[in-house]
Amino acid sequence: MIAAVGKNLELGKNNDLIWRFKEDLQFFKEQTMGKPMVMGYNTFLSLPGLLPGRKHIVLSFEKLDLGKDVKVVTSMDELLDTIIDYPEVMIIGGASIYKQMLEHSGKLILTEVEAEAKDADVYFPKFDKNDWNRELLSEQEENNIKYKHLVYTRKSK
Ligand SMILES: NC(=O)c1ccc[n+]([C@@H]2O[C@H](COP(=O)([O-])OP(=O)(O)OC[C@H]3O[C@@H](n4cnc5c(N)ncnc54)[C@H](OP(=O)(O)O)[C@@H]3O)[C@@H](O)[C@H]2O)c1
Repeated sequence: MIAAVGKNLELGKNNDLIWRFKEDLQFFKEQTMGKPMVMGYNTFLSLPGLLPGRKHIVLSFEKLDLGKDVKVVTSMDELLDTIIDYPEVMIIGGASIYKQMLEHSGKLILTEVEAEAKDADVYFPKFDKNDWNRELLSEQEENNIKYKHLVYTRKSK
C-alpha cells in the first residue's frame, strides 16, 4: 500500500488530498510506474485522469464501465482473484480500501507528513508498528512542512 498521511493518519478531505508536494507526487509516480494500481471508486474519481504506464483496477459495488483501460471489480474476492498472478500490486487508496487491504499487505510505503488537518474526513487505518520493520528512505521539506518517506515491511511470524 502507498499513502501520504498526517500526524493523526489523516488521508483526505472532500474526496481530495490534504497536502500536495511536488517531490512526493514524483515519488508516488516512481513507486507505482509499471505496476497495477488498485483503488476505490472515490479515489478513481479524484484522479485528474488515467495515470499513464499503470494498469488501473477500480473497486465498485456497481458494474461500472470506465473504459477499456480500467478493470472494474465488484468485491474483495474478485479483487484477490484478479491480482493473484501479479508479483506486486500497489494499493493506492482510499480509506475504505486501505482498511480492507491492510491484512493482505506486506509493505506500506508511507509519506508521513509532520502536520495535522483538523478538517480531514478520511483516515488511514491504525496499525501496530511493532508488527512492522521500519526503514527511513528520506526526509523532505516543502512549503515549510516536513515529511518523511518510510517503508514498513511486515515482520514474519
Ligand atoms: N493521502 C493519500 O495517500 C490518499 C490516497 C488515496 C485516496 N486518498 C483520499 O481518500 C479519500 C477517498 O477514500 P474513501 O474511503 O472515501 O473512498 P475509496 O476507498 O477511494 O472508494 C470507496 C468506494 O470503493 C468501492 N468499494 C469499497 N470497498 C469495496 C468492496 N469491498 N467491493 C466493491 N467495491 C468497494 C465503493 O464504490 P461504489 O460506491 O462505486 O460502490 C466505495 O464507495 C479521498 O479524500 C482521497 O483524496 C488519499
